[in-house]
Amino acid sequence: MKTSRAKVRLASVAGLAAVGLVLTGCSAGGSANTDAAKSGQDSRGPITYVQGKDNSNVVRPLIEKWNAAHPDEKVTFKEQSDQADQQHDDLVQHFQAKDENYDVVDVDVVWTAEFAAKSWLTPLTGEMKIDTSKLLPSTVKTATYNDTLYAAPQTSDGGLLYYRKDLVKTPPTTWDEMMQDCSIAKDAGIGCYAGQFAKYEGLTVNASEAINGAGGSILGKDGAPDVDTTAAKAGLQNLVDAFKDGNIPAEAITYQEEQGRTAFENGKLLFLRNWPYVYNLAKTDGSSKVKDTFGIAPLPGKDGVGASTLGGHNAAISVYSKHKATAHDFLEFLISNDTQKFFATQGSLAPVVGDLYTDSELTAKLPYLPTLLKSIESAEPRPVTPFYPAVTKAIQDNSYAALKGSKSVDEAVKDMQAALESATSSGN
Ligand code: GLC
Repeated sequence: MKTSRAKVRLASVAGLAAVGLVLTGCSAGGSANTDAAKSGQDSRGPITYVQGKDNSNVVRPLIEKWNAAHPDEKVTFKEQSDQADQQHDDLVQHFQAKDENYDVVDVDVVWTAEFAAKSWLTPLTGEMKIDTSKLLPSTVKTATYNDTLYAAPQTSDGGLLYYRKDLVKTPPTTWDEMMQDCSIAKDAGIGCYAGQFAKYEGLTVNASEAINGAGGSILGKDGAPDVDTTAAKAGLQNLVDAFKDGNIPAEAITYQEEQGRTAFENGKLLFLRNWPYVYNLAKTDGSSKVKDTFGIAPLPGKDGVGASTLGGHNAAISVYSKHKATAHDFLEFLISNDTQKFFATQGSLAPVVGDLYTDSELTAKLPYLPTLLKSIESAEPRPVTPFYPAVTKAIQDNSYAALKGSKSVDEAVKDMQAALESATSSGN
């Protein structure tokens, strides 16, 4: 289906701009998938839960707890790799094969629209309904497509600045201040700053943060691509310059989340942009050299704190699942207060239940919770579109080329704009 830019703008005028770009999806599955979505809604039995690598070691204990209470509806954990793009492609392959063994799947917030438009996710309506009233509105939005809820928000994610408080007394609030602090890293013989700069979804997150943090944006207020601007160029230029002058160590061009975490835990970085899951591991890993010496601050921006890209994961029920009644209860289990507290205390994952951020037991254990809530509440969502794979490719390819020096920032931003326009106008 072709979707014209005019249509994109119309959708935005209809009040959808707040969540970014929203395009009408082509329903690839059609009525056959609607039937699939309805079948098995009363049926109970064993199910499989599919998720990326359980870096925080929270999934197995949770599933053991569930299985002890549900001997006839046991959940088996299918663990994918730790790389966002591989997780996405694995899900797509299994949906295309109509795999009935991928019952409940963990969906990155940016895949909801694509999977829902393909009719792969069971709408959480009627018997499948879940109560979202206590959940952070931003997380519910990420699980919603065309006004229908397609998944249960499971964990949220907001970017944080991890820093060495033994070396830096007051964390920088602006990008320039952070770059000035890089002399401290030089004196200490360690790298200054890293984020996620390998060519994958994490680069889309980091490039968007650099652009938003400098006052630019990927999409304009009307929801159409608007990245060829002075402010967006300045944001991308900040990353390019930092690579050039070594403030971002050269090897960070290969970093996904885990490589950056390891470098930081080994004491090799002064500053690290990463998600909240790093807190627990940096504190408890036997090999962490920074257990008592790291702090957490908001991401730095242009004139003050910056804006994170909104991350997070939602749990959805595949339309091909044969045991949707069990899958539905498992979703409710995932968003229950007990599970959400467990995610927070055991894995320092960001709860989707708003009240937990002020829960005194939790804030005593996890002092960074107010900073995290601010990061999530002020986070910028990535574009919401069934054509997200082409959108993220436009951002990744061009920002990567700029970081590697194979395109100037001007060229990169110009090409990004053109590729975004083509991705959002033709549904490539
Ligand atoms: C985290 C975020 C997710 C993001 C991914 C990028 O898992 O929760 O939203 O897409 O990192 O690597």
